[in-house]
Amino acid sequence: MDGTGGSPPWQWLAAVAGEHGDGFYLIDPAAARTCIGAIRQQFGKAVGPVQLAYSYKTNHTPALCRLAREQGMSAEVASAQELWLARSIGVPDADIILTGVGRGPDVVHSALAAGSLVVIDGQRDADMVIEFASRHREETVAHVLLRVAVPTPAAPAPRLGMQPDEAVALGRRLMDMPGVDVLGLHCHNVDRSLPGMRARLAVLGAVGQELWPFGPRLLDLGSPLGPFDPAHAEDHIAPYANAAASALTSLGWADTHLILEPGAAIVAAAVSLVARVLDVRQQPGRAVATIAASILHSSPNTRRVDLPVQHVPASGPPRVTGADPVYLAGSTLIDGDWLAIDLPWSVLPGDFVVVQSVGAYSISLDNSFIDPPLPVVIRDGAGWATVRRRPSFEESFAGFVL
Ligand SMILES: Cc1ncc(COP(=O)(O)O)c(C=O)c1O
Repeated sequence: MDGTGGSPPWQWLAAVAGEHGDGFYLIDPAAARTCIGAIRQQFGKAVGPVQLAYSYKTNHTPALCRLAREQGMSAEVASAQELWLARSIGVPDADIILTGVGRGPDVVHSALAAGSLVVIDGQRDADMVIEFASRHREETVAHVLLRVAVPTPAAPAPRLGMQPDEAVALGRRLMDMPGVDVLGLHCHNVDRSLPGMRARLAVLGAVGQELWPFGPRLLDLGSPLGPFDPAHAEDHIAPYANAAASALTSLGWADTHLILEPGAAIVAAAVSLVARVLDVRQQPGRAVATIAASILHSSPNTRRVDLPVQHVPASGPPRVTGADPVYLAGSTLIDGDWLAIDLPWSVLPGDFVVVQSVGAYSISLDNSFIDPPLPVVIRDGAGWATVRRRPSFEESFAGFVL
């Protein structure tokens, strides 16, 4: 199957392009399964079984959410839309964790009534839980976690979660309340470093000691891992798992179960962006290759130009590398629409480029700027299956008054 450095050969990509168009996302489900298995194995070795809840916001492609479910993952959802999706693909309510901020009482109450775990981010959420408990305490217990803000060296002022003393005070009030079961603590921080992991454990450890003599039942560490190369999974994950194990041991929390909410760690490496080269033009000091996709598809949020990228040339006579470095340009009119720069390639129109590691915060942020969102296909044996066809113009404008 592999052609150039892990990518499918040109003929295979051309066959998909013949059906779906010159730009598309390609999911490798085996890579996602490997990542899930590796996280489970490394944490299992260090701390025993952990609950893994797939973060829908990272990539809400239903095929990936379903894959996560088939691999035994729970769902971490942050909105009414994501709750709807998890339920639509058949995740049992008891395996859904509702995080988020700014969602209304309708979604919070619906999750509580169905027996999902709800993460309280502050007083507003607490008020919704209290209101639910006052109305339903005879028939349903509200299961909640308290989200604590964890400052880390790389992200010292997190926006979300409660300050530790606020979480302790609110936790004490809620624990006294009939119909509310505070099962434990939650945190998440954009810092995915090992010092960031240690900060999570230290802050949650200190808050937990104030609230539970023998530790909380659940400790949800959010998503500390970040993307990794499945070929080097153990090297990446083991230090995080060992940090968790030693923190739990020194706290004496033998009966505390860990939850992780990985997103990027599972899907980043499992999705590539494939695009045909449409045009190559010479500019002073560089050859600009315009492709059938844009930076809004590879990394809309962070606009990265350093993602791994492969060149899959159309067959023909051997090429000589051009004198000037190649710059990969997107097909929008955004002046800074570069997907990669300084490539030592000899590229021609008709070739394909494959931008790897684009699974996190790409498809779930996509938009209809200039054109409808790109189609998505998934590798299926030697072939592929359609995950999302390209929406029509009418679908792109659904909801607008024409
Ligand atoms: C609460 C929560 N859990 C999990 C995640 C997933 O993080 P990542 O995509 O870095 O794995 C996020 C991302 O923002 C989050 O906010």
